[in-house]
Amino acid sequence: MLQNKKIIVAIDGFSSCGKSTMAKHLAKQIGYAYIDTGAMYRAVAFYCLQAEIMNKYWEIDEERLRKMIQAISIEFRPNVNGESETYLNGINVETAIRTLEAGTGASKVSQLRIVREAMVKQQHLMGEKKGVVMDGRDIGTVVFPQAELKIFLTARPEIRAQRRYDELIKKGENVTFEAVLQSTVDRDNSDMNRAESPMRKASDALLLDNSEMSIESQEVWLLAEFNKVIALL
Ligand code: DC
Repeated sequence: MLQNKKIIVAIDGFSSCGKSTMAKHLAKQIGYAYIDTGAMYRAVAFYCLQAEIMNKYWEIDEERLRKMIQAISIEFRPNVNGESETYLNGINVETAIRTLEAGTGASKVSQLRIVREAMVKQQHLMGEKKGVVMDGRDIGTVVFPQAELKIFLTARPEIRAQRRYDELIKKGENVTFEAVLQSTVDRDNSDMNRAESPMRKASDALLLDNSEMSIESQEVWLLAEFNKVIALL
């Protein structure tokens, strides 16, 4: 029954809001593919850092990037546990792109039109048959403005910074809470104020502030919203 009625679920919002946790869980429950578009910008940043197209001051050699962008191919493949992992030109970069450095780099490369155009093109292909849960910043506004279900997720910056700090410490990164909070605030500013596809809530997106919500209650809420849309098709 569900197979006949596939939709696109777009989940946008601030960094470290738990978008990916929510999106992944829903995708698994309803048998859809999960597409983490933040991972795509992180993979581009990782590529640029490795190839020295971006230096440690985050300066980007746009001329070289322009020449290379079509050669950057990003895919998601399931691991042995069925969890989606990011591949950059056929190489698994799932762990390498989850650092603070790759996150900051992603916020820089994602400001460039040439990068956004190339990623949106790949995202359109990934979602052309529907049946996807895609998370990012511009999915409901730019990538799939016709998505049947759109969510915009937010939470207080201190709460988001604490979540990211806990995650990074668990992975053994040497960071301070203050540095993570600063990077969260900086990233919010650059995501909201960039010229290309700035992050904003689509007028028809449902707003969810999860500052005081448990993961379980968010998941229940999201599945209920999904079922409401499916019931109306
Ligand atoms: O969600 P994340 O932290 O993995 O995203 C990394 C960066 O990529 C973040 O600064 C915003 C940017 N991004 C974007 O511009 N558009 C998207 N659709 C997804 C992420």
